[in-house]
Amino acid sequence: MVTPVLSLSSKSQNHSKKTLTPFAFRCRQQHQLLAVIFSLCVIFLIFYHASNHVDMVLLQKEVHEKIYPLPDGSQDYNLLYSNSTKTSSFAGFSFYLMGDTPYRDWQETRLEWQVKQMKQYTKNHPERNLTFTVHVGDIQKVSLTHCAESAYQTTANLLRQGPLPTLVVPGDNDYYDCPDRNATFQLFMKYFGSFEKQWHKKDVEGLGLIRSESHPELFVFVKEGILLIGLHLINAPESHEDIRLWNARMIANKEWVAKNVQHYFRTQEIRGVILLGHALRSPRTRPFFLTVADYFVNITHRQDLPVVYLHGDGHNWDVDTKLSHQLHWKHFRDIQVDQGGLADPVIVEFAPQIKGKLKAFKDESSDLQLVLGKGLIRLDRQNGLYKHPKNVKNLLK
Ligand SMILES: *[C@@H]1O[C@H](CO)[C@@H](O)[C@H](O)[C@H]1NC(C)=O
Ligand SMILES: *[C@@H]1O[C@H](CO)[C@@H](O)[C@H](O)[C@H]1NC(C)=O
Ligand SMILES: *[C@@H]1O[C@H](CO)[C@@H](O)[C@H](O)[C@H]1NC(C)=O
Ligand SMILES: *[C@@H]1O[C@H](CO)[C@@H](O)[C@H](O)[C@H]1NC(C)=O
Repeated sequence: MVTPVLSLSSKSQNHSKKTLTPFAFRCRQQHQLLAVIFSLCVIFLIFYHASNHVDMVLLQKEVHEKIYPLPDGSQDYNLLYSNSTKTSSFAGFSFYLMGDTPYRDWQETRLEWQVKQMKQYTKNHPERNLTFTVHVGDIQKVSLTHCAESAYQTTANLLRQGPLPTLVVPGDNDYYDCPDRNATFQLFMKYFGSFEKQWHKKDVEGLGLIRSESHPELFVFVKEGILLIGLHLINAPESHEDIRLWNARMIANKEWVAKNVQHYFRTQEIRGVILLGHALRSPRTRPFFLTVADYFVNITHRQDLPVVYLHGDGHNWDVDTKLSHQLHWKHFRDIQVDQGGLADPVIVEFAPQIKGKLKAFKDESSDLQLVLGKGLIRLDRQNGLYKHPKNVKNLLK
């Protein structure tokens, strides 16, 4: 579009040299210069408007790009090697689960006490085979800490006293609600981005944990046929963030799940899937779960496996089955843990399997016990909510 304007002006320039006086020539030149500037302005405005229009479209519509790889269960280990999977054995194991703590001084004391209890319990109950701890995000209360580095340090110091390698997924309080999101996300990563390495090498290597290269807060590992996937799910109202950043994060989460489900279902026998994230169920995170569903629902040998999303954010124990009903995804559950300062950590336990036979947990479901996946998974809330959570004065004596 620029070329015609320039060639036009140079043509008339040649012409003007012959016929015009120097003064008139300068005038003509000025006019032409103005014309060129004007044309450039018009072109710029057209492009500016067009690019703004693209921005508007992007802002209005969440992008659902095709993610790689697509769901395909035809090469799955469980399908191709069903002969051997009928006789395979797995040990039982369990892990501690907590979230949304510490929010207050008394919760720091509470956490210190919980960690001490966990240390003793792990040692005294080898039969439960406690192997790691997961904190599902929000390691501080932004209005109290203002996201100072010392808050990250305090929680890291408390959790580091724990008996087991500890994995922390990011919550909104960990950077999103902070004054400087990028700087505080760096802080979160500094303290928790590879937190598990604070424990004994032998214990960490036993997990076989892999972190994403481009998004190291995302992790994955397989333990005794259970695929565990760490996510970066934040509940953010629309308009609180540039939609492009939101989309990029959603795509990273979806790809991480897709890639790992496809890979691990192909290479080994998977008995169940645990998704670990912060955000509670909401219309904004729904597209993520719809994508995850594509990798299980309608794939016969996958849709019978339990898939459980464990998270915090809402601060009270809740077992949600809405998505399960809506999508006819029988074995999907969305489970929210109590706020960590108010209740015992949950013990998430997996039943052993001996020569193809699951030693299923008895379904003695109660307020404090939940058995899922035909007895493969048990969530034990221990003593549940504390009667007097703030009463921490004599806890550490
Ligand atoms: C399963 O076992 C049967 C009988 O031994 C055999 O014919 C078949 O090829 C096996 N299938 C696979 C996928 O190994
Ligand atoms: C505990 O889990 C580990 C790792 O999965 C496994 O190797 C071991 O056999 C289990 N121990 C018991 C007592 O089940
Ligand atoms: C924060 O990081 C994102 C990419 O992760 C970038 O697009 C954005 O411009 C950054 N914001 C600031 C204020 O640096
Ligand atoms: C599963 O298949 C049914 C019937 O073909 C279809 O209506 C449904 O949308 C599918 N669900 C998913 C999550 O793909």
